[in-house]
Amino acid sequence: MDRTYNYHFTPPKGWMNDPNGMVYIDGVYHLFYQHYPHDIVWGPMHWGHAVSTDLLHWEHKPIAIYPTEEEYIFSGSCVYDKENVSGLGTKEQPPLLAFYTAHNPITGEEQQSIAYSTDFETFTKYEGNPVIENEKYMAGDEAKENPAFKKDFRDPKVFRNPVKGGFTMVLAAGHQLEFYHSMNLLSWEKTGEFAPKEGVIDICECPDCFPLETEEGTKWILMLSRTSHIMPYYVGMFDGNTFVEEKDEFEENVNPPLLDYASDNYAMVTFANCPGPLMLGWGESWDYVSQTPAKNYRGKMTMARKAQLLKTEKGWRLRFAPATLSGIAKKDVWQGVLQPGEHKEFLLSEGKKLVLSVTKEEILVDRSNAGDLSFSEYLQTKAAWFLAKRIKTGNCNITVIQDNGYFEIFADDGLVVFSVMTY
Ligand code: FRU
Repeated sequence: MDRTYNYHFTPPKGWMNDPNGMVYIDGVYHLFYQHYPHDIVWGPMHWGHAVSTDLLHWEHKPIAIYPTEEEYIFSGSCVYDKENVSGLGTKEQPPLLAFYTAHNPITGEEQQSIAYSTDFETFTKYEGNPVIENEKYMAGDEAKENPAFKKDFRDPKVFRNPVKGGFTMVLAAGHQLEFYHSMNLLSWEKTGEFAPKEGVIDICECPDCFPLETEEGTKWILMLSRTSHIMPYYVGMFDGNTFVEEKDEFEENVNPPLLDYASDNYAMVTFANCPGPLMLGWGESWDYVSQTPAKNYRGKMTMARKAQLLKTEKGWRLRFAPATLSGIAKKDVWQGVLQPGEHKEFLLSEGKKLVLSVTKEEILVDRSNAGDLSFSEYLQTKAAWFLAKRIKTGNCNITVIQDNGYFEIFADDGLVVFSVMTY
């Protein structure tokens, strides 16, 4: 039986993972997504498409970009080329450029390509693809043992470069990120790299980089997803070539803060061409999504969240809130205060419950008695409960949105977020 949701996007059928190419144009939010329409498991990736005017209700559109046998359409981003610097549209009909990773399923090689559209619905692949080729860096005997190209070179996010003009692309390149610059969105030159300070623990995916206004002027956020399924973010500045992390004085911050402290949110990225950061993620986990009960479709998105950057007692932190609360039924929203030592139970069917507890130091979300976890050992052993350090002291202000078993919990005023599914 398929679960249905009131406020969360799901595909019409088949498989869905990451949100892609999200962009806001003339009052319409466009959501593209990793999609395989022919089965409820991952397959040759297409870009699906939906639109919304309120971020709660979505209208399905025809599939935007199709794969071929040699090119799966992996994750990426859209740029609304209002000035038509690419020449792929006209001044009167500016083009929307979709940057995606062309993944060759036979060799595993990944390169960056463009598809463009002037009606924001039907896309044409650019004839000059790929616009960023994979670097062939080994030759001779060495290449026999190792693939002669950069592995895991993907997920381009393109944003306007306020320092040099033109545009910058940040993308994942194995254990680190790379930055490229372009004036016309078509020819790209590498300008920098960023290596996460926690070191080489796993592969980087789906990075994003954007400015925010704060009480101390403009700062930049760099965020990404990692294959160990956490989403860290870093605070600093963008110098026109690369992201430079700001040092902070807090010893305990050797590990960066996370966009989400539970496991049912991944590949979160922001909408382009949108005032203030607005983001959403894939409301699933690679660790057990393939085992979750499903019939005609698999995959949901989180709700859209807006973010601010605040100076807290623990350093700079993103503070999240649901993009909209109007339109959500009162019964599906809980807003309250827990004092240290208190807990709140969210009752589900057959006596099951999700429990949220707060101490002076920590917040715990426990789904071990919130439903069926038996279909996945990972769920039972590694994802039955989630613990995060508090940012505030004293009372904990919490907003919870509940949609047919999916909980989005904004604790400590939205400074600590958990996205948790119950089955
Ligand atoms: C992240 C990811 C991306 C890739 C896509 C493929 O979930 O692995 O890095 O582009 O999914 O579907």
